Formats: sequence, structure tokens, C-alpha cells
Amino acid sequence: MNISIINGSPKPGESTSGLLIKYLLQEIGECNARVFKCSLQTAKLAKIARSDVLVLVFPLYVDSIPSQLLRLLIGLEELRDLNHDMMVYCIVNNGFFEGTQNYIAIQQMKNWCAAANLNWGQGVGIGAGEMLPFIADVPLKHGPNKNIGYAISSLATNLSNKKSGKDSFVSPNWPRFLWRMQSTKFFWMPRARSNRLKKQDLYRMVKR
Ligand SMILES: Cc1cc2nc3c(=O)[nH]c(=O)nc-3n(C[C@H](O)[C@H](O)[C@H](O)COP(=O)(O)O)c2cc1C
Repeated sequence: MNISIINGSPKPGESTSGLLIKYLLQEIGECNARVFKCSLQTAKLAKIARSDVLVLVFPLYVDSIPSQLLRLLIGLEELRDLNHDMMVYCIVNNGFFEGTQNYIAIQQMKNWCAAANLNWGQGVGIGAGEMLPFIADVPLKHGPNKNIGYAISSLATNLSNKKSGKDSFVSPNWPRFLWRMQSTKFFWMPRARSNRLKKQDLYRMVKR
């Protein structure tokens, strides 16, 4: 079976989407899967278009799909030799704690499938995406990676059998209030400082 996995994160280096792809490959145990960065190169698009299974792994941007990925989807949809037997799955991760935040983006992916005449497989929405690299040493299905592990494993089983599954929305098995404190102190604020922003800059409103 010919599986294409697209990393839809616009980040140039490491990303949570990249880590989730690593987990997925671990669960599929399939060497026939090819991983692509989000790009519009025609040769790559033609390969992706011939896949039996397409998995889109991307971050949530403003409750939606990153623009680079949107462009790729439009490019794919316009290809004449698109395999219409293809099954489409997605894993979306977001910054807020709740994986349910990804509901709308998964609905958008379903709509794209209907428009492109492709078959919808399953979507998984994962919250607290920026926490995942910090717990990458914990095996899937254990500790904070318990629910995430089961969700990815179920998606891997369904895609290996080209079956559809129920969409699922998970967060790390970790107290929400604790992650809120930890992420503010150890992640979001240092990230803002590294971009030369102060705390008050984060609350600035766009003036019309
Ligand atoms: C431009 C932009 C928009 C974002 N919009 C949302 C959002 O609407 N909701 C949310 O929960 N997280 C949002 N995030 C956070 C990302 O989804 C989150 O950091 C994710 O873990 C990044 O995944 P990646 O490492 O795979 O790129 C946004 C991030 C950026 C840069």
C-alpha cells in the first residue's frame, strides 16, 4: 500500500507535527510510507496524487488550516490524475489544552475531501501540542502520552486497513492548570522574549 504523509507545519526545523508523524510511523510499522514537507513541487504533488492513503499532519492556525497546506490541497484537487479511491486521514495539533479546538479544522478537511471527491477516513485532534516534545521520552499509551498513544494507534490500524473511524479529540493526561502554569513560565514567555516581545505586547490589540 502506498501511503503519503504530509507534514503541514510551516516551521523550518523540528515541530510537533514531525513528532506525531514519528509516532504514527512507529504504529504503522510500514516502510512504504513517504513523508513530504508541505510544498508545491509538481513532481511531489503527482506522487502524492497517486497514493492509496493520504495523511495530513498539521498545526491548528487560527482555528483553521495553515495557508501553505491550503495551497497544497488546492493544487492536489486540480490534478487530473488524482486517485479517487484514496482514503484521507488527518492529525491536527493545537496550542490550547483542549484537543476539541481542532473540531472545525477537521470539518474543513472533510469538506475538502467531499469537494475533491476523495474518501474521508478519520481525524484526530490533539491539544497542548507544544507540550508533546517535553514528554517525547514517555512511551505512547503510558503516563501523559496515554490517550494520545491510543488515538494514534487506532488511526494507524484504520489506515492500514483503509477503513474509516470515528474522529477523536484528546489532550495529554496531565492537569490542565499545571500545564497552563508551566507553559506560560517555561514556554510561551521565553518564546516571546526570544522574539523581543514583552508580556504586555502579547495583550496588544490590532487597531482598526
Ligand atoms: C499563526 C498561528 C496561529 C495559531 N492559532 C491557534 C489557534 O487558533 N488555536 C490553538 O489552540 N493554537 C493555535 N496556534 C498554536 C499552534 O497550533 C501550536 O503551537 C502547535 O502545537 C504548533 O504545531 P507544530 O509544531 O506542528 O507547528 C497557532 C500558532 C500560530 C503560529
